[in-house]
Amino acid sequence: MQLFLDTTDVAVLKDLAATGLVDGVTTNPTLIAQSGRPMLEVIAEICGVVEGPVSAEVAAIETEAMLAEGRKLAAIAPNVVVKVPLTRAGLGAVVEFTREGIQTNVTLCFSAAQALMAAKAGATFVSPFIGRLDDHGADGMSLIHDIRTIYDNYDFDTEILAASIRTSAHVTAAAIAGADCATIPPATFLSLFKHPLTDKGLDQFLSDWAKTGQSIL
Ligand code: G3P
Repeated sequence: MQLFLDTTDVAVLKDLAATGLVDGVTTNPTLIAQSGRPMLEVIAEICGVVEGPVSAEVAAIETEAMLAEGRKLAAIAPNVVVKVPLTRAGLGAVVEFTREGIQTNVTLCFSAAQALMAAKAGATFVSPFIGRLDDHGADGMSLIHDIRTIYDNYDFDTEILAASIRTSAHVTAAAIAGADCATIPPATFLSLFKHPLTDKGLDQFLSDWAKTGQSIL
């Protein structure tokens, strides 16, 4: 499973990228707004921190305008993936981006039918929003399972990028469901390392080791 960070905080990204466990980054207009920085500048900086895919989302809602914006975003760096909303206009842009060899991430996916259309359009990634479906009283993880089944049935190349992740349990459940990638808020990424029994066990090991009076070096 590829693990992406869902962030525009470059300082945090640099810190977590140093683990060697960050495969890429996703951004969206809300995260760009939260950064308080010019979009093109922050995307270029992120592309210099990670070698993997960096999703940069268009703001246009009509196909031709999406194409113009997406071509500009794709020109920032080779690892830019152009993110478009899962609408008829967005998928129209994906069909053309695919022809031009520009990688795409189709976002705001909330149904298996939408994911089917994204794959038919040639999307590189599709981003089903687990947390927002859960927030809406639906079962977000069942969508991942359904998309996995459909994509395997027809051998679609589109990768399932589990998004709107809220907890480490979302990450593990998405992995069990067969998502190719998960995009994770930094705090949730850090929680993936943690378990109280690990802390307890380590404390005991260190305490018992100290009693030996030994040193390995
Ligand atoms: O950036 C894509 C997605 O992960 C955002 O989801 O619900 O956390 O805004 P959310």
